[in-house]
Amino acid sequence: MNIDILNGFLKNENDLEGWFFPPDMLSLAILNDIHSKSNIIGNIIEIGVYKGKSFSFLSHLIKENETLFGYDTFPEDYYESTKLALEKYGASVKFELIKADTSELNDDDIKAKIDGKVIRILHIDAGHEYHEVLHSLLSFSPYVMDSGIIVMDDYQDPEFPGIEAAVLDFCEIDRPRRFIPFFSGANKIYLCSNYMANIYQDSILSSERFRNSSRCTIVRDFAILKGFSKLPTSYEKTKKNLSKFYESSDVRLVTSNQYVENIRIKAKIYGQLNNM
Ligand SMILES: C[S@@+](CC[C@H](N)C(=O)[O-])C[C@H]1O[C@@H](n2cnc3c(N)ncnc32)[C@H](O)[C@@H]1O
Repeated sequence: MNIDILNGFLKNENDLEGWFFPPDMLSLAILNDIHSKSNIIGNIIEIGVYKGKSFSFLSHLIKENETLFGYDTFPEDYYESTKLALEKYGASVKFELIKADTSELNDDDIKAKIDGKVIRILHIDAGHEYHEVLHSLLSFSPYVMDSGIIVMDDYQDPEFPGIEAAVLDFCEIDRPRRFIPFFSGANKIYLCSNYMANIYQDSILSSERFRNSSRCTIVRDFAILKGFSKLPTSYEKTKKNLSKFYESSDVRLVTSNQYVENIRIKAKIYGQLNNM
């Protein structure tokens, strides 16, 4: 993404209304750069556009031959405000705004709209309750490419406990290809297919902004890189903790006694005492 445009968004040099904040702008710009460097091409879909703040930002991530799709019910003046936001602050790219209640969409509706295209970035920021989040994850994720990213808003907002539950349930259901959280931004969680997690984490850590301001945290059977950490570890320590996780053989759940013992072993290895 063009650095001047990114800085303009980071400094809030606009009159855009919305809930899209600098730390996640920065995270998305860095992840998008990783896609650019690896020539990963797809499309970007945002579910929950409101008045176009994040949508305008996302337009700057769109590459040649890609399309930006935005789903919203667009009540009141949201549709007009989004178009205006895009005109004033967006990039001139191919886009489509789809007025729909996503909880009414079935697979045929989604397939017809996406029309054989794949999703490179899926940003979910519509209704914040458990079933609608899980429905969006399950319905749109099959179209996300293997090297794509799902960005979920307000992951651990205490007001919306259904979001975290939906994401974690989705990670259990999503098989055989499996999307898992790999990066935690400010109020968004980022998912990718499990074999891509370490690749993305290494690339993020190579960015100066995240080198010494992140840490590794193990959740269930995946490693999350926490960006903008309140308890950051050095680059070397974060890399070491990630390597320790990826090098260890995965402990499968066998019996309940074995299960507790396996968790105890992980508690010892990945506990806070052992990693700061
Ligand atoms: C939090 S706002 C989106 C904010 C926007 N992404 C931003 O960062 O500025 C949530 C949006 O989701 C839309 N929304 C909520 N439930 C929806 C549904 N079931 N289908 C489509 N859109 C929905 C609302 O109309 C609202 O515009």
